[in-house]
Amino acid sequence: MPHLAINGATPVRTIPFPTWPVYTEEDAQAVSDTILSGKWGSSKGDRVHTLEDQFAAFQQAKHGIAVTNGTTALNLALQSVGLTPGDEVIVPAYTFIATANTVLMSNAVPVFVDIDPDTYNINPDLVEQAITPRTRVIMPVHFAGLPADMERLKDIARRHHLAIVEDAAQAHGAQWNGKGVGGIGDISGFSFQASKNLNAGEGGIILTDNDELAGIAGSLADCGRSDDGLWYGHYRLAGNHRMTEMQGALLLSQMARLEEQCKRRHENGDYLTEQLSRIAGISPTIRPGQANRHARHLYVFRYKADAFGGTSKSKFVDALNAEGIPASPGYSLPLYKQPVFLEKNFGVYMQEALREIDFGALNLPETEKACADEAIWISQSVLLGEKEDMDDIVRAIAKIRERRQELARE
Ligand SMILES: Cc1ncc(COP(=O)(O)O)c(C=O)c1O
Repeated sequence: MPHLAINGATPVRTIPFPTWPVYTEEDAQAVSDTILSGKWGSSKGDRVHTLEDQFAAFQQAKHGIAVTNGTTALNLALQSVGLTPGDEVIVPAYTFIATANTVLMSNAVPVFVDIDPDTYNINPDLVEQAITPRTRVIMPVHFAGLPADMERLKDIARRHHLAIVEDAAQAHGAQWNGKGVGGIGDISGFSFQASKNLNAGEGGIILTDNDELAGIAGSLADCGRSDDGLWYGHYRLAGNHRMTEMQGALLLSQMARLEEQCKRRHENGDYLTEQLSRIAGISPTIRPGQANRHARHLYVFRYKADAFGGTSKSKFVDALNAEGIPASPGYSLPLYKQPVFLEKNFGVYMQEALREIDFGALNLPETEKACADEAIWISQSVLLGEKEDMDDIVRAIAKIRERRQELARE
């Protein structure tokens, strides 16, 4: 008789976990009020500017510039630090495509560096080894909402005169040594895309503590205008990347819940880690002490097939889903193995320095392992549940481990 739900037995859980987005009548009212105000753009209304101030304050950064999405935020952040064609930007390869695409779309060259398997964030030792005379920027990703090692990275950047552009797309509320991410490096980009812990369907924001960079980024987001220039005065090549007032209103309204949600995800994440660490073959990513708040955009753990009778990651994920636990195998390819890199399909962003690079020859072992065999994700909304909901996740994984022979047989 089967015991595992994937083989037809009763699942551990039959009721749903919290879903995303969370929304209220107040959110709808905020958007509706904005529509009825007739002020739909930030040149007329004050929602976007208030959001910029409030979100920057939430992350303890000095300046916020709201834009259309996280990709644009990163692109403009990179352009603000003054890249020139052929400059190198060090990035991880275990991340969303935008991390590397924005480097290319800034006419620079992404240099891929491996992750630390304990955190799945960029490995600072390898960052240092990857520095060349062309390196201008280190671009760490606070993957899944866990701050990268900003102490080590800032030290490296200082010694080699490099800028740090933080990819904080997944890290709303994350803190390193008590300071919100986003204003720790020189400049950063966050995403407000639909899956993110604060979202308006789409949207993004640039944060920085640096007055000069804020001025450049603000101008790049707004057709090259200057704060003290004419409305039809344009001082640098730039597009229109402004956020609408309806997005601003929806984000502002949700900010009332952000702190409480961040706390809950952080606490449930730590609780899950404590419980799951006891199961052989399951190694949750480690939150270093300095990462005093993990944003937990994703709950991430490493799966070791050996401890599960050799069952592949994808079959384990199927078994977990069958038990009523929503899990995903995450990124399936290191960025350098994406067709865009293998085929160098870079369109107008093709440049001389890129012609010599053989992206297909790259092999970053920890990134490869994370993609193919080890990394498993559970989405942030699941962590908005109660302790008992977390216990169901633990029970399901423990059950699969206990009955692993049944999986291996099938
Ligand atoms: C790590 C990372 N960087 C950048 C982005 C880009 O953000 P957006 O989708 O808002 O353009 C995302 C969003 O998916 C992301 O996860």
